[in-house]
Amino acid sequence: MMTKKIYSGDLKVSNRSPLDRIAFYGRTLSEYLLMFGINDIDHLKTYNAVLDCPSGASSFVAESNNNYEINTVGCDPLFGLDSRVLHKKGEEDIEYVTKRVSLSQDLYNWNFYQSIDRLKEYRKRALVQFISDYRDRKKRKRYIKAKLPRLPFDDKSFELVLSGHFLFTYSYKFDLSFTLSSIIELFRVCAKEVRIYPLQKSSLQPYDHLQDLLYTLKNEYRIACDMVPVLFEFQKGSNLMLRLRRHKAM
Ligand SMILES: C[S@@+](CC[C@H](N)C(=O)[O-])C[C@H]1O[C@@H](n2cnc3c(N)ncnc32)[C@H](O)[C@@H]1O
Repeated sequence: MMTKKIYSGDLKVSNRSPLDRIAFYGRTLSEYLLMFGINDIDHLKTYNAVLDCPSGASSFVAESNNNYEINTVGCDPLFGLDSRVLHKKGEEDIEYVTKRVSLSQDLYNWNFYQSIDRLKEYRKRALVQFISDYRDRKKRKRYIKAKLPRLPFDDKSFELVLSGHFLFTYSYKFDLSFTLSSIIELFRVCAKEVRIYPLQKSSLQPYDHLQDLLYTLKNEYRIACDMVPVLFEFQKGSNLMLRLRRHKAM
């Protein structure tokens, strides 16, 4: 396991309240590459099938399939709803989340987005690309309704499984048992690697049970896991992702 210091609450973030709902919000392919430590598109192409769980309003699936012919699938409990309902919810949640960010801008690094307006542009671009894909009957099969801790996929269906801005971000809504079962489920459907980002709650505090979780994954489930530094750090301190790897013999 790498020894880089995990964010330990020494930034001025401790009074920030958590998000009051799980936002239907999503990032673009370029942000996914950064936050999951994927070097470039050629690196992503080395994985034969990729799952994005939960996908939310991200354009990762649309962009990677349409622009690069990479076989990616997204799942989310809200998939199956009408595209107009998802579009409206996506727009409302962009307003909700970016307003909250705008009220505490000092908790974020702005080197990537530069301003709230550009942050909103990114979010709207992702939403528009996602909705246009989701609305297309032929492409809809890439978007599967699923809710952790259970996934409707066979064991080892995907070489890479990505899980962004859910498990630790909203961990104050779930207990350790939910988080552990969900990670084991993500690992069940993966043939090579699971990558999870960020390791912080939406209050920007670190996930409370990270050490217990890592201990259990390693010692009870014999899963190789490590925390890998990534180049993306919008929420201050969120520059690590958790990577779980399947040994060849498993
Ligand atoms: C912030 S979005 C994820 C966005 C995307 N992965 C990204 O990083 O841009 C969080 C998503 O979690 C979904 N969600 C809520 N409960 C869930 C559950 N039990 N299992 C899986 N996803 C869930 C919500 O519907 C929402 O779309």
